[in-house]
Amino acid sequence: MAAYKIMVLHGPNLNLLGRREPEVYGSITLDRVNKALEEKADELGAAIDAFQSNHEGELIDRIQAASTTYAGILINPAAFTHYSYALREALAAAGLPLVEVHLSNIFAREAFRSHSVVSPVAAGVICGFGINSYLLGLEALVRVIAAGGKR
Ligand code: DQA
Repeated sequence: MAAYKIMVLHGPNLNLLGRREPEVYGSITLDRVNKALEEKADELGAAIDAFQSNHEGELIDRIQAASTTYAGILINPAAFTHYSYALREALAAAGLPLVEVHLSNIFAREAFRSHSVVSPVAAGVICGFGINSYLLGLEALVRVIAAGGKR
């Protein structure tokens, strides 16, 4: 049995991966991201449940329900990264080890993307490596969990 159950959350518009701005986000689909995460989780002795939503409240409902079932959260908050205090507060309240990931390098794009309201409540952030941001983020999260929530 997997040692850790991890919740993977994808924010708005990530359901469009593969056809959304491929020059920025690549040609990989969200299904393939989730499959790759499942395989990586298996290697790490973990298991994931992945959920995508375009709705802030739906993501918050999932986060609120997560603390009893999951050992940690891996999240790409997408555009909510930059302004959703509600999402950040839900993540803070969950109190679970958290890693934030982005496909693109948010610091090399428009100025509004350089600020994340989520990062202060995350153990760490990985961005700019496409699908590898998720895979590296999952590995980092498992290590944080194994270390009892410490880095
Ligand atoms: C993103 C970066 C965000 O700025 C953007 O709103 C997204 C995707 C990324 O994965 O690179 O939707 O989170």
